[in-house]
Amino acid sequence: MAILMCRPEHFGIEYEINPWMHVEVAVDRQRALQQWRALERTYAELGVTVDFVEPVSGQPDMVFTANAAVLWNGRAVLSHFRHPERQGEEPHWRAALERRGFEVQVTPPGIAFEGAGDALFVGERLFAGYGFRTDREAHRHLARALGVEVVSLELVDPRFYHLDTCFCPLDERTVMFAPEAFAPRSARLIRRLVPHVIEVPVDVAAGFACNAIAVGHRVVSSLAAERLEGPLHDAGFDTVVALPMSEFMKSGGGVRCLSLPLDTGRAVA
Ligand code: ARG
Repeated sequence: MAILMCRPEHFGIEYEINPWMHVEVAVDRQRALQQWRALERTYAELGVTVDFVEPVSGQPDMVFTANAAVLWNGRAVLSHFRHPERQGEEPHWRAALERRGFEVQVTPPGIAFEGAGDALFVGERLFAGYGFRTDREAHRHLARALGVEVVSLELVDPRFYHLDTCFCPLDERTVMFAPEAFAPRSARLIRRLVPHVIEVPVDVAAGFACNAIAVGHRVVSSLAAERLEGPLHDAGFDTVVALPMSEFMKSGGGVRCLSLPLDTGRAVA
């Protein structure tokens, strides 16, 4: 497994584009770096190859690599951010992905799409969120660009503005998700399509427990995930690595937002 990360060198709360962000609640930069390094170290210990993209000054949210694009079989559908504050990241993500051999496709003009933050594979099926950052029209484009089936899920709670804050594929048949973050029809759809679901209480999800990544049978997440050890063990995930993410949560992010898996589908040749 290979994961793309971006050092939190220019990370901070410089604007407010989700309910977690408050410009007056400053990031402790030292602590942010420690938390980020602990995540990087965890990946290395679990045998994950960590790749780094250069941080860009003036782009405080670039640390959230999950939002760059969705990647599948060597193709990348590049994000087009909802908010102008993040649109300046787009050329940097494009260059970084091209440099790594991806065939990059852009999102059609006027359509918002926020990458793996809102589009996650369970097996060969792409589950995609809409309602806050990604437009539903983006899903049709994803299906065409990647040649995959897309399941559209409606997000309804502004705290869970990206799919990866409330939905986490753990393996080909297991997902943990917070039903209350979804329109009832979408929650039902998840239960119907995914063979094994772990339902996460909304207060646990609000600690960014679902903003997690599975490395084999180990799950890396925030401290709140300690409360999911029971159900995760029962589902065959024997180790939960629960990391403090306080500084990134001030921006509305956790483990998964800081991580973009590069080898989804077939790896780049
Ligand atoms: N402050 C960032 C934003 O609001 C946080 C992004 C979190 N990323 C994620 N994949 N959920 O855009």
